[in-house]
Amino acid sequence: QRAPLVDTFGRQITYLRLSVTDRCDLRCVYCMKAKPTFLPKKDLLSLEELTAVCDTFIARGVTKVRLTGGEPLVRKDILSLIENLGARIGKSGLEEVCLTTNGTQLPRYAAALASAGIRRLNISLDTLDPDTFSTLTRGGQLEQTLAGIRAARAAGLQVKLNAVAMKGVNDGHLPGLIEWAHGEGHEVTLIEVMPIGEIGVDRADQFLSLAQLRAEFENRWTLTDLPDSTGGPARYVRLAETGGRLGFISPLTGNFCDTCNRVRLTCTGKLYMCLGRNGAVDLRDALRNGGPEALDALLDTAMRQKERGHDFDVSRGAAAAVPRDMATTGG
Ligand code: GTP
Ligand code: 5AD
Ligand code: SF4
Repeated sequence: QRAPLVDTFGRQITYLRLSVTDRCDLRCVYCMKAKPTFLPKKDLLSLEELTAVCDTFIARGVTKVRLTGGEPLVRKDILSLIENLGARIGKSGLEEVCLTTNGTQLPRYAAALASAGIRRLNISLDTLDPDTFSTLTRGGQLEQTLAGIRAARAAGLQVKLNAVAMKGVNDGHLPGLIEWAHGEGHEVTLIEVMPIGEIGVDRADQFLSLAQLRAEFENRWTLTDLPDSTGGPARYVRLAETGGRLGFISPLTGNFCDTCNRVRLTCTGKLYMCLGRNGAVDLRDALRNGGPEALDALLDTAMRQKERGHDFDVSRGAAAAVPRDMATTGG
């Protein structure tokens, strides 16, 4: 048993977020530039390399791996990675493999994901209005994501919906989205826009305080706080009227970094210790030329570098807290 990953604030890292591609078939306005440039395929870690990194993390105590992107399901060979990881669940200290997806590819993939051992998906859905969906995703079709949600459910996967709250864009649609989702048996998590990536917009124009939105919800529904169960950033309430759970991820209006349990790897092998910080350790060389000891040593370096928390501040306007795209870091 190798030493667990503990940072200088005593927080143990048990959750790895793995961005497997920076590509996406949608281009959400809070996430990407209108004309993003994607990395050449040769810069991406191979499936073998991704699996090897996961094995090192699992040996160091990681129990949960989440695949993100970009859109993880647009990477061609993704299913074999998922199958490789799925085969480790319950045998190696790994308890769960999850995906965060935009849902468009699920009609094709849902059954295979379930067979591979995936139990839960987080699907991004910001509105149920087809026109707003199309504007927000720059050309996406709502029906495709809804078909993906249905396919996931049909395959027996548990679905949580993620909605980024945007001022003047989808704020009015959120109550309807929540009531619909709860009726369908899905949790919803609302997310504050984070100033990540130089995407050519002023974040202050997009930003909506979830603390404020929550106060408005108090007039509409009866909210009861639920105890913190996940160790993640979301704070949950139950809605008496729908019986469903609603989460708030409020990096700007409610900091949750004290209990941070995660690090994130980009598709090119950079390990970021915080979504909202620039510090990273490049694992690619160690992976290609070093072997397990070299990787272990770099993870120890990474733990010493993990900062106390993010540095987000929407009042910076168009200047992002970190210049790299969300799609590269994986959220
Ligand atoms: P669960 O397993 O369901 O708890 O998922 P999760 O909330 O960890 O993952 P998901 O991919 O659904 O993330 C939802 C949102 O939370 C995304 O916008 C992420 O960028 C954001 N998020 C996740 N972890 C962190 C974090 O450590 N810090 C910040 N600032 N945001 C995070
Ligand atoms: N701020 C907050 N959330 C974002 N996401 C993408 N970009 C941003 C941003 N700048 C969300 C997506 C997805 C999740 C992984 O991250 O909507 O649900
Ligand atoms: Fe694609 Fe997700 Fe970014 Fe939207 S938020 S463009 S679905 S990676």
